[in-house]
Amino acid sequence: MAIGQQQLSMEEFNLIRKLVYDRFGIHLNEQKKSLVVERLQKTLRTGQFDSFRAYYDYVVSDRSGRALLELVDRISTNHTHFFREKDHFVFMQTTWLPAMKKAAQTAGKKKDIRIWSAGCSSGEEPYTIAMLLADQFELDGAGWDIGILATDISTSVLEKAQAGMYSDTQLEQVPDVYKRKYFRPAGNGLFSVAPAIKDLVMFRRLNLMNAEYPFKGQFQIIFCRNVMIYFDEPVREGLLARYHRYLEPNGYLFIGHSESIGRDNKYFRFIRPAIYQKI
Ligand SMILES: C[S@@+](CC[C@H](N)C(=O)[O-])C[C@H]1O[C@@H](n2cnc3c(N)ncnc32)[C@H](O)[C@@H]1O
Repeated sequence: MAIGQQQLSMEEFNLIRKLVYDRFGIHLNEQKKSLVVERLQKTLRTGQFDSFRAYYDYVVSDRSGRALLELVDRISTNHTHFFREKDHFVFMQTTWLPAMKKAAQTAGKKKDIRIWSAGCSSGEEPYTIAMLLADQFELDGAGWDIGILATDISTSVLEKAQAGMYSDTQLEQVPDVYKRKYFRPAGNGLFSVAPAIKDLVMFRRLNLMNAEYPFKGQFQIIFCRNVMIYFDEPVREGLLARYHRYLEPNGYLFIGHSESIGRDNKYFRFIRPAIYQKI
């Protein structure tokens, strides 16, 4: 039985990082070695693996794919919060929505809103979008059909997202008026997302590395914030090509403020920091 902390050799680290890169596009540089040790320690102890090599062999031989999913769950960083990087929500409210509403006045234009939160983590991002839209359409929402797709690779964050239960501290960034309208006290300092907001969001598991996504239509906005940061250039390039394909003409791509897309890329034009438009 394995006791104490397992050592991770460079050879084992290279095997694990190649697997994580090939399957999920996540690039772990050499500085991430100690993070891998820290995050996988418990998994090794629970599964009684006496080395990282034994654990790696188990993951690659597990045909159910569950071990691989657990691995990515441990490795990926799921940090998020409500109303994170507010500029995107201000842009939606002041620029994008007025344009959408105006265009809808044109005869025959469908009143559909389709937004994708790609790498949604535990749900704070798609629920923020849903609250903003519910609020904006409170008075003139008749005839509008709103659909927010929220996807992630990690099943554990998706379970949290679907449960829609958050603590008081997690709601700190939520304006009081939204807290009152869109959350219900659930006891023990917890609050649950109101059914009207939950109904606007559909959660699905999706690996962004897939060459094709199972979507019928296109989106007006794709949020892919603080996800591409873990991918290297070739993976990012492939992802941008797919986002381009799944966006409506003139649709927007929102990325994290610490991320950027080369201004010479062929898919998106720069609008303002972290906001790009389909070319
Ligand atoms: C740091 S969180 C970002 C959450 C949210 N977008 C935000 O900005 O607050 C990054 C998320 O990307 C997800 N992720 C990482 N690699 C992925 C992949 N290959 N496919 C889908 N999701 C992935 C992780 O599971 C994690 O939940």
